[in-house]
Amino acid sequence: MASSIFNAPCTVPAVNGKNYFGLKPAVNNDLRFDVGKTTSIIGFPRRVFTVRASDKKDGPLKKLGLNDAECEAAVVAGNVPEAPPVPPRPAPPAGTPVVPSLPLNRRPRRNRKSPAMRASFQETSISPANFVYPLFIHEGEEDTPIGAMPGCYRLGWRHGLVEEVAKARDVGVNSIVLFPKVPDALKSSTGDEAYNDNGLVPRAIRLLKDKYPDLVIYTDVALDPYSSDGHDGIVREDGVIMNDETVYQLCKQAVSQARAGADVVSPSDMMDGRIGAIRKALDAEGFQHVSIMSYTAKYASSFYGPFREALDSNPRFGDKKTYQMNPANYREALVEAHEDESEGADILLVVKPGLPYLDIIRLLRDKSPLPIAAYQVSGEYSMIKAGGVLKMIDEERVMMESLICLRRAGADIILTYFALQAARCLCGEKR
Ligand code: PBG
Repeated sequence: MASSIFNAPCTVPAVNGKNYFGLKPAVNNDLRFDVGKTTSIIGFPRRVFTVRASDKKDGPLKKLGLNDAECEAAVVAGNVPEAPPVPPRPAPPAGTPVVPSLPLNRRPRRNRKSPAMRASFQETSISPANFVYPLFIHEGEEDTPIGAMPGCYRLGWRHGLVEEVAKARDVGVNSIVLFPKVPDALKSSTGDEAYNDNGLVPRAIRLLKDKYPDLVIYTDVALDPYSSDGHDGIVREDGVIMNDETVYQLCKQAVSQARAGADVVSPSDMMDGRIGAIRKALDAEGFQHVSIMSYTAKYASSFYGPFREALDSNPRFGDKKTYQMNPANYREALVEAHEDESEGADILLVVKPGLPYLDIIRLLRDKSPLPIAAYQVSGEYSMIKAGGVLKMIDEERVMMESLICLRRAGADIILTYFALQAARCLCGEKR
């Protein structure tokens, strides 16, 4: 069911030969002038006929067969055809205080008074084309539910993944990002499985590209799913995350993903200098056309908890605070954005998480001409789901509101686990 702030039409490119249009227009009675009753009136030329104030029940008013001149002459002669009466002023409830009206020459509520007017003045819109759908994959054949993320699964890469992508494309979501659950036995302290050309991610990319050549595939570039330490980089024996050595591995990972057919590689590791290095590595291998979406301002956030459960990628010790940003910092986002821009990032994934960091999205939207992405992360998703399951909030409305707020703050695209559910909602489908 559509909430009125989303009833701007969403038009997304044809996918699978189908066209998608957004929400069906709200069929609210208050969109019509609806007196609703049949009114008998005496009209020119003194014949009794019937007028309906709305076209709701019968067809249009019957014509009398007069030409323009006869109609005008009748009015000039004083035989004015009747129209519905001026509607009575609606009565306030008994006990309403009688007060002089406030002397206001601006009443902003006037522009919000009906669904049609609210739709006319809506400043931000959202469409399935704005979504990137994050998908967890594993080697198994079955889809395994993720406890902390109701509605999300570790998808079998050969079956569940392909089916989920088909469902998403069916409602106009044609961009996905892949996150692998890697078997423990393939994890190591240097994360070398990350650039195995026959690893889970490259295999899944090849399969998807074979089935859906126009699907846009984003990949995550970071070592954590492949690291026996659960860190995004290589850990020295004193616990320090080694920057340049990690970047060397990330370059190999990005090239391997590009070779498999990735459209956009997305470094989420927060090492220094990785955008420039990855750009160089991609170009050197002939992948000039592969884009880089940089996780520019990724914060050391507790909202990633459910994701780490999904991939079993919790850091085995310590935290990620020496590479991910301090949630208390604002200006530092500009330092990161400046570096990523000058190193050649195509898209700035400004913020992770999304909703608690709207100020950072707005900051970088205003300071950078590059497309801005926001990531509504696992913890944000799980909170909305949990609130919905407990009937504390209306899940669907809160979902749509949170997404439009990310757009309002300045995000062009949104990575969200709600992509399929929200797109179905935008296309007027119920789950
Ligand atoms: C891995 C990565 C993480 C997320 C995206 N990529 C986890 C982390 O940094 O610990 C989190 C996404 C989410 O919580 O939905 N580098």
